[in-house]
This record gives sequence, structure tokens and C-alpha cells, in this order.
Amino acid sequence: MAFNNRKFSMNRSSGVPRESTSTKITRRFSTNEMSNNENDSKIHRQFRNAHEGHKSHAGLDPTRASTGVIWCTERAYEHGFLEEPEKWANLGQGAPEVDDDIEGSFDRPTTVDVTMTGREYGPTAGIKSLRAAVANLYNAHHREGKESKYSWENVCIVPGGRAGLIRIAAVLNNAYLGFFIPDYTAYNEMLSLFKNFAAIPSPLAESDNYHIHPNKIAEEIARGTSVILTSNPRNPTGKVVKNPQLAEIQDICRDRATLVMDEFYGGYNYTSDCDGTTISSAENIEDVDEDDVLIIDGLTKRFRLPGWRIAWIVGPKEFIKAIGSCGSYLDGGANVPFQEAAVPMLEPNKVRAEMKALQTHFRDKRDYVVTRLTEMGFHIKSIPDSTFYLWLDLEGLPEAISDGLNFFQACLEERVIVVPGIFFDLNPSKRRDLFDSPCHHFVRFSYGPKMDTLKMGLDGIQRVVNK
Ligand SMILES: Cc1ncc(COP(=O)(O)O)c(C=O)c1O
Repeated sequence: MAFNNRKFSMNRSSGVPRESTSTKITRRFSTNEMSNNENDSKIHRQFRNAHEGHKSHAGLDPTRASTGVIWCTERAYEHGFLEEPEKWANLGQGAPEVDDDIEGSFDRPTTVDVTMTGREYGPTAGIKSLRAAVANLYNAHHREGKESKYSWENVCIVPGGRAGLIRIAAVLNNAYLGFFIPDYTAYNEMLSLFKNFAAIPSPLAESDNYHIHPNKIAEEIARGTSVILTSNPRNPTGKVVKNPQLAEIQDICRDRATLVMDEFYGGYNYTSDCDGTTISSAENIEDVDEDDVLIIDGLTKRFRLPGWRIAWIVGPKEFIKAIGSCGSYLDGGANVPFQEAAVPMLEPNKVRAEMKALQTHFRDKRDYVVTRLTEMGFHIKSIPDSTFYLWLDLEGLPEAISDGLNFFQACLEERVIVVPGIFFDLNPSKRRDLFDSPCHHFVRFSYGPKMDTLKMGLDGIQRVVNK
């Protein structure tokens, strides 16, 4: 039967042509409005309630669009944050202060040259000069005296950390991927989107400050996990796993599992007297092309340039080749002018001095925040040694504000934003019931913002507690 030039639709069961809709406008399908038949029929109404597909914007699942931090910002908008942001202390978003007034820190460029090359499509793995600058930085800071060194082919430039995480997820094999709880909220969505691997949660013990012990990694591998994802230093707990335990973990994983090390806070390290040392698993890698460790970092946090959207993944050439290529269907690559502008920032001595200034400044902010919260009666069991986050335990506060959601709500009334702990209890594809989540009685407090904002925020929290 030829369907060419058919001007009318057919009734699929009888084959009889339907009446033309151009003369008589009738709808072929039901709408969201209830028909009379449905209004009069309980069983029809029950059917509609039970079938999620029967709703407006049928092609959209809005729950996939938002992370916990965005949800918090939206709640703040309802309390006036959008109209008067300067009157608010946003200690929710994980953003570092971006001004040029940290003592010893270099001034960020205020203009960016757009060359002819910058107008063209760039390579999806990034421009070679920036890839080489990143490799050189890791060799200088972490691989001095080692035979195996990174080259530009071990580096892929990506448009921000989250784009990098998605690229890694896109090229993973059919595998069990182990992740830890609590951890960075955006992992939730990344671990839900891709079907090539199965994400397996591994809760860490509160009593142990959520430390990742090498034994825990050995257990994961013993049960067949072949990819492990973690932030280190860790968001939201502000703790870092460093050598010798970090090296032990890498030894356990060698030849058995791919380690995805999210080192976005590696520069915010207060464990070495603020001497500018960045913590990185690059230190313990034996052969840069054989050890399956994918390190992800960028300009967002430790260079305090979240708006630039320039980040990188460092790893074995073969992995990097795949991660670079998949940018051609995922995100198209990082913008070229900002990649070019990033090259001179990565000179190793300059970075060391920058990290020193950063660590001194942020450690002072951490100390200020910890002192004030302790004076208010918060019990900070273990002082965070890295990042700019405090995982604040609310147990012991009056019942009305002793859980993360209620505390968050009470803070909004004082124009302060924090993030309820529940959002860090990662639950990809919503498989677990979070009703009894052990993260309920926490909030994450960020001391990324400037001192004045921190003071304003702490005054607000003081009022919440005094109420
Ligand atoms: C652990 C961790 N990794 C990655 C990122 C992502 O950074 P970006 O803003 O570059 O996507 C963040 C941002 O909050 C983070 O906390």
C-alpha cells in the first residue's frame, strides 16, 4: 500500500479514512481537563491519579532539573533574596570569594583577549597550550623526581567540573560504581543519568568523621566494584584523606578499579601549616598511563574563578582520549578565549604562592567561624582540615530547629542561607527511603564568602539560636 500524498489519517483498526480535521476541529486525545465522563466516574478519576504520564508537559520530569543547592536558593527567593541579595548571607552555595583583596593572591584578569583562534570551534579536549600547562603544573607540584610524568595528552580541558564529571560518566564501562555518603550533591544527578554503570552507595560513619579507610575501599573492590568516585578533600565534611592512607587506597585500586578523584578543594588544605601544598593523588601514581586514577580539578574553587567554567581531567592517555572525544556530543568543549587566558595562571611557582595566600586567608575564616559557632553552643567534634565547609551538627539545639530542614527554614527568616544535610545523603534515581537519613540533623555551612558576609550570617544564626 502506498502512503505517499495521503491527505487524511486512517482509523488503524478499520482502515476507514477519518473525517478531515481541517473542516471539523475535534481533538483526538484527552487533555488535562476532566471530561464529563471522568467527572462522573470514580474509577476514571482513580486511574488518572495513579498514572503519572497523564499530566501537563508530558515530556518533562522537572525533578531531574534541580540539585539541592538550587532548591535552597529557590526557597530563599520566596523570602526576598532575589530583590535584596546584599542584605543576605548566602552560606549555601559552594562559591569562594572572587575579589582581588586576599593578601598575597594574584590579581585576576579583568579583560580577556579574543584572538582569531578564539572565534573558532576549539578542540573538544581543550587547546594544547593549556593541556600542557596543566601537565606541567602536576609534574612540578606532585611528580618531582619521578620517572613517569604527565604530558599534554594526559590532560583534557572541560567546561567546568560538573561537565567533566558527566564526561567521565559517559565513557565508563558496564560497572559497579561505588560512591560514599555524604558527598557532593551534583553526583546524585550524574549517577542517575547514565545507564552504563550501576551506582552503589557506601555510607560512612559519623562517629568516625566520615573517614574513608583503606579497608572500606578493599571491601568495595571485594564485592566487585570497579569504579570508585569520591571528592577529596571532601564536600560537605571538610575532611581530607591524605598520605599514607591515600597512597594505600591507590595501591589497593591499582590494576583493579578506576579511581575518580574529585580534587576541586585540593588547594584548600590546612594540614601543612598553609605552606601552599595542594593535596593530590597525582603524588602516588606509579605510571601515569597505567594507573587508572582520573583527577578532576579546575579554576572554579582554588583559583576562585567559578564564572570562567574552565576545569580539567588528568589521567591515563587512553582514558583522556575517550573523555576528550565524548565532548563532541556532550558539551562541545570549553570556550577558547578563557582557556588561552588561563595558561599564564598555571605557572607552578605562581600557583604555589597563590595557594599559600589562599590557605592562610581561608584558615583564618575557618577559625573565626568555628570560634563563633562554638560560643553559640554548637558542638564541633572535629575541626575541618580542608575545603571551606563545615558539616554542622544540630543535635542539642531546641527540637524545633534540631534538624536540617527546620534550621534552614529558621535561617531564611534571618536572611541566611545554609544547605540542609539531607541533600548530601546521595540517592541516585531515588532508590532509597531517606525518611530516617542520618544526615537529617546536619546542615552544610560554607565559609567561602567574604568575612563581612560571614559575620552577617553568623549574627543571623545567633538570632536563630537565641529565639
Ligand atoms: C566536590 C566538587 N566537585 C566539583 C564541583 C564543580 O565545580 P564546577 O562549578 O566547576 O562545575 C564542585 C562545586 O561545588 C564540588 O563541590
